[in-house]
Order: sequence, then C-alpha cells, then structure tokens
Amino acid sequence: MNMTFDQAKDILIEKLSAHRYQHSLNVADLCRQLAGRYGIHVDKAYTAGLLHDCAKAMSDQELIKVCRDNGYEPDDIQIKATQLLHSIAGAFVAKEEFGEEDEDILNSITNHTCGRPNMSNLEMLVFCADYCEVGRIHSDAVVAREMLGKSLEETTLHVLENVITFNEQRGVTVHPASLITRDFYKGLLEGSTEGKR
Ligand SMILES: [Fe+2]
Ligand SMILES: [Fe+2]
Repeated sequence: MNMTFDQAKDILIEKLSAHRYQHSLNVADLCRQLAGRYGIHVDKAYTAGLLHDCAKAMSDQELIKVCRDNGYEPDDIQIKATQLLHSIAGAFVAKEEFGEEDEDILNSITNHTCGRPNMSNLEMLVFCADYCEVGRIHSDAVVAREMLGKSLEETTLHVLENVITFNEQRGVTVHPASLITRDFYKGLLEGSTEGKR
C-alpha cells in the first residue's frame, strides 16, 4: 500500500458498514497471527486481510463497472449473482485507491470468494480466515480456526466443502470456480493431483 494501516483504516471505515469493517479487522488479525507459521510476511498478511472486502459495500452496478473499467468482463453467473464480483472488484479498488501493487496480496483479494487451484499460502490464509475469524458465529468457525493453525490445504478444502453445501442448501448460487477449487484441493489431499508450488 502507499499508506499506513491507520490511513487505510480511515478509508475503509467510510466505505464499509461497522459490521463489515470489524470483520475486516478480524480477518487481518487472524492472518497476522498465522503468517509466521506459513512463511508469510506479517505486514503482507495483515494488509491482505484488511483490504479483502474493500469493495463489499459497492452496488451491483458499481461492481460491474469497476470490473469492466479494468478489463474484466463478468460471466453470466457473476452478472446475476453480482456479489460474487466483490472480490474481483476489490483487487482493482485495492490497487487504485489503496495503492496496493503486490500481486500476491491482490490475488488474495481476487480469489477470496471462490478460491482457485494452486493458491499461494497467502491466498489460502485469507480465504480461510474470511470464513473463521473470531467474529464468525456459525458453528463450524471454531473447528475451522483450529484446523487453520495446522494445515492451509486441509482447511481450504474443509471451508469449500462447507460453503458449497451450505449455499446449495439455501439455494444460493455456487460459482463453478468454487467447485473447480474444491476438486483441486480434494485431489491434492488425496494425492491424485499435484500442486505446482
Ligand atoms: Fe468477501
Ligand atoms: Fe470477508
């Protein structure tokens, strides 16, 4: 970022609801706590957590516009379930408004909703921390938080399986990218897929 954490927080507090702002702080804290365990620079981890939802409060039209202005054309599913775009738009906002240039941080923001095969440690950490930060009150948060201290890959698969099942049960659109990510980590942990890292 081209600013201090305090400056970034001042901007975020204007952009987000109080609840979402607190969630962002919680994700950032959890990422920072676990960064060392996974060989990630603590400031990078904190930044990625802090900024991951920076586009969360944008309207559907704004999300689509930010994506298109930056050369990303949303697919049909993203046009209908527009909130899926907040992660992709978030990386563009992080770059433009917070001066974030680090590719790993930007990828962590882009991929925090659906994940992708072969994520970096930072991408997996943000993806999982988003699901199980201390403010998350669903019954699986404690289990996932415990897992997250032990294995990024296993927690990533666990989170994906739970989110996919939960959304399918509620009739919420699951983007195929989530299924592709789930299948990748399932294969990786079963030993039938090889990670490229
Ligand atoms: Fe998000
Ligand atoms: Fe989030």
